[in-house]
Amino acid sequence: ATADPAGFRRALMRWYRVAGRHALPWRLTRDPYAVLIAEVMLQQTQVDRVLPYYLAWLGRWPTPGSLAQASIGDVIRAWGGLGYNRRAVSLHRATGVIEDGGGHVPREKSELLALPGVGPYTASAIASFAFEERVPVADTNIARVLARAVHGVASPRDLGVRQVAATALSLLPLRGARDHNLALMDLGALICTARGPACPECPVRESCAWREAGYPASAAPSRPAPRFEGTARFGRGRIIDALRAAESLSEGELADLLPEEHRPFVPRYLSALQREGMAEQTAAGDWRLPVAKAE
Ligand code: ADE
Repeated sequence: ATADPAGFRRALMRWYRVAGRHALPWRLTRDPYAVLIAEVMLQQTQVDRVLPYYLAWLGRWPTPGSLAQASIGDVIRAWGGLGYNRRAVSLHRATGVIEDGGGHVPREKSELLALPGVGPYTASAIASFAFEERVPVADTNIARVLARAVHGVASPRDLGVRQVAATALSLLPLRGARDHNLALMDLGALICTARGPACPECPVRESCAWREAGYPASAAPSRPAPRFEGTARFGRGRIIDALRAAESLSEGELADLLPEEHRPFVPRYLSALQREGMAEQTAAGDWRLPVAKAE
């Protein structure tokens, strides 16, 4: 990896001590349930947006047992505008698995991976941030820092995931891996940003391979995001929004709430939402958020 890993870590940590986001509430706890909630919320949502939801969530459901007792509809309602509502259903199911296993969030990566909604990144994040296990974490911010500083390429898309994981592991200190991971994350979020990185202010600029290479652009084509309003995710999200605000709605009422282009797909959206546990039909054939508790 880098020629002088100890020097890299020292410069990184000196910066982190003064510039790191130490007051983020999920960093002030080691409660693995709280860290699980935070990491799942942070998977696709920005820190500022997550903060109020995280605090309200833990106020309402402070333990895995309390969340497992909640109705799925209430959980989806509390997820509010965080987006990607499937994450709420996964969290609820995860607490069911945790309760079946005795009520404790597991510490082992293999057991964490068995929880719904927990992939390799989230499992590592819980192991590192809650249990202080010496494991690498490679979210998109950290992957970008390593791609640039160590490999001299603009983006982790220019590398393989294996390469990013191997580099993250090789840089890990013997002690203080949790702070090291958080420091890399903050460097990526605050300095080594995707667009417009603040290289003059970077604590590791002296040893940065990307700087040495002359800041080459990424060779990997960035795939253009589809127009969000045209996606199934948009249509399904609007249906969940409507069901949050009403006791129940008919298929026709739901279709009327959606833009024209989505109306033919409403039956398909509804059956997918039903299959994924996010909607159910009343005896009268209307639709609502599921009222059932976890099995
Ligand atoms: N602190 C711990 N995990 C985090 C994350 N995923 N995003 C931002 N800050 C964090």
